[in-house]
Amino acid sequence: MTNILILHGPNLNLLGTREPGVYGTVTLADINAALEREAGARGITLRVLQSNHEGALIDAIHEARGWADGILINPGAFTHYSYALRDAIAAVGLPAVEVHLSHIHAREPFRHTSVIAPVCRGQISGFGLQSYLLGLAALVVD
Ligand code: DQA
Repeated sequence: MTNILILHGPNLNLLGTREPGVYGTVTLADINAALEREAGARGITLRVLQSNHEGALIDAIHEARGWADGILINPGAFTHYSYALRDAIAAVGLPAVEVHLSHIHAREPFRHTSVIAPVCRGQISGFGLQSYLLGLAALVVD
């Protein structure tokens, strides 16, 4: 696995100032830098996209068919209701891992459901920035 698409969903551009009691003060730039470091050490190339728009995330998943070996995704709130995002992941057939900064199963009931997880290899939730690094490691395991 040498090429990986990293997708960050809605509102994750606000990390650092967004609900720090829930998400901490880590920024999206911090997360991307940590992912780039880890990817570099593993000989992996990343393409990274954050979008607040469902269609942009879906387009990126479709385009990944041409070059990516896998997808690491934090779908944000789309996790809980976007059948379109779920169908896009299923349609391209690329291995995907879902990650969350917060422990979604310990939060409000509406966050306990992920419509994305069933089309992913697995889900990592609750470890902050480490969720992404664990997710990357999980994705590259054969
Ligand atoms: C999140 C959890 C979601 O429920 C929420 O809507 C987010 C962030 C997380 O990383 O913990 O935007 O995906």
